[in-house]
Amino acid sequence: MRKKIIAGNWKMNKTVAESAQLATDLVAAVKGQPYAEAVDIVVCPTFLALDRVSGIIKGSPIKLGAQDAHWENQGAFTGKISVDMLKAAGVTYVILGHSEPRTLFGETDANVNKKTLKVLAEGLIPIVCVGETLAEREGNITEKVVSTQVKAAYQGVSAQDAAKTVIAYEPVWAIGTGRTASDEQAQAVHKFIRGLLSELYGSSVAEAVRIQYGGSMKAENASGLLKQPDVDGGLIGGASLKVDSFLGIIKAA
Ligand code: PGA
Repeated sequence: MRKKIIAGNWKMNKTVAESAQLATDLVAAVKGQPYAEAVDIVVCPTFLALDRVSGIIKGSPIKLGAQDAHWENQGAFTGKISVDMLKAAGVTYVILGHSEPRTLFGETDANVNKKTLKVLAEGLIPIVCVGETLAEREGNITEKVVSTQVKAAYQGVSAQDAAKTVIAYEPVWAIGTGRTASDEQAQAVHKFIRGLLSELYGSSVAEAVRIQYGGSMKAENASGLLKQPDVDGGLIGGASLKVDSFLGIIKAA
């Protein structure tokens, strides 16, 4: 049985003080709750708030994630943050290849691959995001797009490492739009991704990898999605910014 993983991607939201407040409220809400131990809970604040949030969630069931990382340890890479630095701040998970950096900031499959290898080499867990645009879905090339993204990201990743990774299937047309993939649409792509992992690494790795759904997931639609056999959690944007809505999804999981 794969343990479900619910991750909040706070994106470019909240000051350090606001992030600290949300983290404090979440810690209080899940304290002593058996459901909080049954699911992996992750919060991914801005880089600026990582250190503060790290201190607040320490000793709670909540784990820390970052929204990106560079593949070098240090040096002349203005604006970037290394995996070493994230590790020192107590980060466990790193979101890579999210559609926003892919579409807005020129993130490439090749870079996602370098970052995936680096995150794994440092013992952290990548959350590798893949997903098709609306035009690609309407052009019936969803599987081709997702397959290209997965194969590129996992180039050179060993089976042993691949088994530890998390994939987030996020149809671009569902992110922040209020339009969610139906339970069946999500399951079909998740099953396809698991089949692809099986081709690449064999069935035991494919069965171990957790595949999250992302794109307008909220408390109201989470349980239908999370009931699908290949949906192992969620990567949540908007609904992770408030305690009640995030908690609703955790409870559904
Ligand atoms: P959303 O974002 O839940 O606001 O659609 C999901 C994501 O981009 O990770």
